[in-house]
Amino acid sequence: MNILILGSGGREHTFAWKIAQSPLCNSIYVAPGNSGTAQIANNLDIKVTDFQAIKKAVLEYQIQMVVVGPEDPLVQGVHDFFLKDEDIKHVSVIGPQKAAAKLEGSKEFAKEFLARHNIPTAAYQSFDSSNVEEGYAFLETLKPPYVLKADGLAAGKGVLILNDLNEAKTELKSMLIDAKFGEASNKVVIEEFLDGIELSCFVLTDGENYKILPTAKDYKRIGEGDTGLNTGGMGAVSPVPFATDDFLNKIEERVVKPTIEGLKKDDLPYKGFVFIGLIKVGDHPKVIEYNVRMGDPETEVVLPRLKTDLVEIFKAIANQTLDKIDIEIDPRAATTVMLVSGGYPEAYEKGKEITGLEHVIDSIPFHAGAINKNGKIITSGGRVMAITSFGDTYEEAIKKSYQNIEKLHFDKMNYRKDIGFDL
Ligand code: AMP
Ligand code: GLY
Repeated sequence: MNILILGSGGREHTFAWKIAQSPLCNSIYVAPGNSGTAQIANNLDIKVTDFQAIKKAVLEYQIQMVVVGPEDPLVQGVHDFFLKDEDIKHVSVIGPQKAAAKLEGSKEFAKEFLARHNIPTAAYQSFDSSNVEEGYAFLETLKPPYVLKADGLAAGKGVLILNDLNEAKTELKSMLIDAKFGEASNKVVIEEFLDGIELSCFVLTDGENYKILPTAKDYKRIGEGDTGLNTGGMGAVSPVPFATDDFLNKIEERVVKPTIEGLKKDDLPYKGFVFIGLIKVGDHPKVIEYNVRMGDPETEVVLPRLKTDLVEIFKAIANQTLDKIDIEIDPRAATTVMLVSGGYPEAYEKGKEITGLEHVIDSIPFHAGAINKNGKIITSGGRVMAITSFGDTYEEAIKKSYQNIEKLHFDKMNYRKDIGFDL
């Protein structure tokens, strides 16, 4: 079959790389894609939220399956758009419908879901411009640090963690009254700070059955030792060494099962990936967020470890036969290190030529913010390329990634040299 992937990052290059290995797939299309997907698929110059243009491409290229990378099209209802249209409703869409995508699109909705289904999470209350004073009063009952979350999608910037009570009050006002994050901060969730180490759990569901994929840990801060500004992710490791069988069992029983059951009970149609952000507090998993897609750069370490044919899995999701599939995982560790443009996550320059890719041995360079121009590969974003490697241990894998990075170059290239430092 012909498959269309929506998105343009390292995650989507990894999807294309994995799908290209399937005998079930004829042609792969990626909208809009990057220089990595261009090597193995056909890039289409279409925005991920331009549903009419996507429909046109689906008909023109006889696409039978659409795999949605980022959250925006899901939150805007791309799956529902397909189901409502006679011409394309036969096409399988991998990604939840709009009602379920709200788990990522609204923090308040996610917190209510967690509470309703008794899934462990931080205590919280939510506020809007009509009850800011109550928000101040709630902050006064909490101990620092204070966690403020814009309800809506804010490009990964909507969470503030503040040590000072007055600062927390000022920020709450600026979010609710001065629209600091635009409409996304019309509502704000204030929650208890959870002290522990983070990891992510990835679940596939067809709405009835589920399969758990390997865990991963990403490194979100720009600076070594997890310091400085938040980024989309600077590197990742899978599996997570501290996720013992006992702890994984707790995640499955206390979080995964009630989540999948909760989706059914609440009538939230879901065929796709559930990305559960967790914090290990003592020996207990607590949910900090749901995302309705795969993580980036977590995909770059999770999918390479998947031995099962991904297209077969996606077909089973579409046909609601996921229970018939065996998921086989490579026991080796995988790590990835993200090369970023100097200055990122603040202002940075684009258009820098990337060289040395032909010298990479025994690592996979997944392209992210990189495009082809005049026969060259040039940077086009903040996160440029994720260098993934395997090893018997994560230490061995990370060493390979760093050895290969030595061979790569672009002007003002930056990366973290301590991925895995805390494990
Ligand atoms: P989120 O967008 O909800 O994933 O939050 C972004 C980041 O903020 C998370 O990856 C955590 O590092 C941190 N965070 C979110 N909620 C909490 C919490 N309740 N306690 C501690 N850290 C949190
Ligand atoms: N790496 C975190 C995310 O994809 O949201």
